[in-house]
Amino acid sequence: MTHQVRAVVARGKGAPVSLETITVPDPGPGEALVKIEACGVCHTDLHYREGGINDDFPFLLGHEAAGVVESVGEGVTDVAPGDFVILNWRAVCGQCRACLRGRPWYCFSTHNAKQKMTLADGTELSPALGIGAFAEKTLVAAGQCTKVDRAASAAAAGLLGCGVMAGIGAAINTGNVGRGDSVAVIGCGGVGAAAVVGSNLAGAAKIIAVDIDDLKLDNAKKLGATHTVNSKDADPVEAIRDLTGGFGADVVIEAVGRPETYKQAFYARDLAGTVVLVGVPTPQMKLELPLLDVFGRGGALKSSWYGDCLPSRDFPMLIDLYLQGRLNLDAFVTETIALDEVEKAFERMHRGDVLRSVVVL
Ligand code: APR
Ligand code: ZN
Ligand code: ZN
Repeated sequence: MTHQVRAVVARGKGAPVSLETITVPDPGPGEALVKIEACGVCHTDLHYREGGINDDFPFLLGHEAAGVVESVGEGVTDVAPGDFVILNWRAVCGQCRACLRGRPWYCFSTHNAKQKMTLADGTELSPALGIGAFAEKTLVAAGQCTKVDRAASAAAAGLLGCGVMAGIGAAINTGNVGRGDSVAVIGCGGVGAAAVVGSNLAGAAKIIAVDIDDLKLDNAKKLGATHTVNSKDADPVEAIRDLTGGFGADVVIEAVGRPETYKQAFYARDLAGTVVLVGVPTPQMKLELPLLDVFGRGGALKSSWYGDCLPSRDFPMLIDLYLQGRLNLDAFVTETIALDEVEKAFERMHRGDVLRSVVVL
């Protein structure tokens, strides 16, 4: 059997997305069919539409999603029909060198559904990040589904599937922020704001939010930043040093993805501190630093892919904290929209006036 559902498709480079009826197959071995309840609008969806990821049009967009498993294919035992799940874009293999060494968050061989979803004329769709969740139903690998407590709001839960997890994980997994640490977060959009929340959760004593937009700084303050710096008005490196007794922060999280903000992060940390790069640079960007400073300042320069998260470990834990009122995921849902409003949400995202627009189905 197949399913005809409404979905948001990017047909060509830079062209506005369209609402289409697509065909979704029943799950085969190792696959799960998920009825989507909510899906956040992320920059990566826009990058796909602009042809910035690859040329495999048409794309089925959407990847920050939560929903209910409708059916599963042969051999699937980890999730069952009726489970409320968050989708992830790194279903780990369990077999590769990283997985076998007990570091599955670095899995080199993550996988997606094998069967293709198609347009009405049979054209195969490329699902964004192997998910494609701006759709009433989508087909994924069962390992892309993580069961969490049904009591969570789908709009908030789905955000853990990408940007919010990246930010929280940059702080708690990659940066190893601990009780009493000083942390600076450069760039407080969806990802940076989540890094502020993650640092707060981990017990950081000082959390300095840096941005060029006062709205983002006000928001970071509401989410737990103890200090804010507008780097249009003040040198952020000086400001962070001033706020940390002249030393610099123990952990600096770069959530913009540009060489100039990376340099700020590099110099704004204390000796032997940690820099975490979670913002995603473009292929053209280059970084130049005195190698002597890299050596002499010691510490760790780390990158955080997807917050170094392990969905099976992190999603249920973070949802439990959310339900206990200790993690404000609702704060990231700026607005909820309908499936046919994704294009409008891209414009709003471009203007920078939302943390997340979330499609609710
Ligand atoms: N200094 C400080 N902040 C900056 C600067 C700068 N030079 N330039 C931009 N910013 C701020 C913006 O004002 C905005 O608040 O960085 C933030 C970026 O946030 P978003 O555009 O909402 O992006 P976000 O979803 O948080 O993702 C951040 O990670 O996933 C990647 O592609 C994504 O590179 C992007 C980054
Ligand atoms: Zn693996
Ligand atoms: Zn995303």
